[in-house]
Amino acid sequence: MRQKHSSIIWKLFLLAILSIGLYQCKKPEDQSSPVMFGTPQPLEIPKGFPKTNIPADNPQTVEGVELGRHLFYDKKLSADLSISCASCHEQFRAFSDVGQMSTGVNGKIGRRHAMVLFNLAFQKEFFWDGRAKSLEEQSLHPIKDPVEMDNTLTVVISRLEADSDYPSMFKAAFGDTKINEERIGKAIAQFERTMISANSEFDRVKRISGNIDAPYIEDPNTPGSKNKGFEFFNDLNGGDCLHCHSIQADGAYMGGGFGTDLQFINNGLKMDYTGDLGRMEATDSLSDWGKFKVPSVRNVEWSFPYMHDGSIPNLDSLIGFYNFGGFDNGNTSSFMKFAPSHMGNRNFTKQEILDLKEFLKTLTDYEFLENPKFSDPFEK
Ligand code: HEC
Ligand code: HEC
Repeated sequence: MRQKHSSIIWKLFLLAILSIGLYQCKKPEDQSSPVMFGTPQPLEIPKGFPKTNIPADNPQTVEGVELGRHLFYDKKLSADLSISCASCHEQFRAFSDVGQMSTGVNGKIGRRHAMVLFNLAFQKEFFWDGRAKSLEEQSLHPIKDPVEMDNTLTVVISRLEADSDYPSMFKAAFGDTKINEERIGKAIAQFERTMISANSEFDRVKRISGNIDAPYIEDPNTPGSKNKGFEFFNDLNGGDCLHCHSIQADGAYMGGGFGTDLQFINNGLKMDYTGDLGRMEATDSLSDWGKFKVPSVRNVEWSFPYMHDGSIPNLDSLIGFYNFGGFDNGNTSSFMKFAPSHMGNRNFTKQEILDLKEFLKTLTDYEFLENPKFSDPFEK
């Protein structure tokens, strides 16, 4: 017995020597690849969710996430110390804003509604027009944006350097106390990637079971039916929401793959997009006029007001808008069915509206909205 053990130990020992040898044989440029600090904390990917989009030089670590969470909630990031990221992205609203348009420092009003933040680890393009290509890059925009935090990174960095806790937190996350733009962006991105929403009634009944047809248990006290609402959401002659919100791409559904979620679409919200051209501002292409990122409908019960301009205040007016069918503005997606028979009124019945609303509520993920892991670390 003892003999056998010691031979295993020998083999391990040889293996260790061999791998050190191999490591040293590596070309010099390989050694400049990112050195990992901190405790690895790989994301747990819910069943059926798509592949994550994590840059190789920013692996998830316990320390990086914790640092990112502090930065997300820290008002030091704004010029006059008045707002943090969380001022516009509030957890109980699925990290969107209670206000129609976001209010930055000195009460400056932006022209867009703050977006919901969850399942970002699976996405590739950020902002309503998709102009940011990574979360690392995106995180630095609000700090500098004059209608948001209106600050400079030089000021932010010197404030963080003077803080009693941050230098050691940067050291734990990145190996030394140096604080720079890149590390701020990386830490915030790591925190944002942990914000995964995957435990709504929808997930429990349909996604996790792997059976999209598994029925909900109806609540006899509600006027609408979840199951009928689900059918209506998917019915091409009904709500026809699935054409754009199959939710497959952000993992709420597990099948299909026919949806256009997270792509850029003009849903006929307006006749005239003067003042905010949407995707066209990022691409300069006329065909992108009035197109906006199709947001997830997860947590929709709590993410009001809706749309890029926050112009739709609640669920009833949201369904009212889709019942109206959208404006035929010349670039409206054909998926909106703005053909004359639909234009102006798609004639949803009262019962269909109640059913749709009941289904949409099954997408609420209270575990996410109330998860202490995503809450303000300064409020203890
Ligand atoms: C003053 C309000 C405000 C503040 C402060 C703010 N945001 Fe935002 N956020 C917005 C608005 C508005 C948008 C949409 C902007 C656009 O499309 O141009 C947005 C979009 C985003 C998105 C894109 C989401 C997606 O699905 O594409 C991310 C990520 C984000 N913010 C993270 C942050 C982080 C991190 C901070 C802090 C460093 C922050 N925000 C601070 C208002 C704010
Ligand atoms: C033609 C594609 C299309 C169809 C069909 C469609 N949507 Fe949308 N939806 C969009 C786009 C694009 C936006 C964002 C538009 C904007 O902000 O200007 C959006 C926004 C939303 C939002 C706002 C989310 C937020 O965070 O602000 C909700 C909720 C929503 N849709 C629900 C529905 C429902 C329910 C249906 C079916 C009755 C539906 N959609 C049908 C494309 C579509």
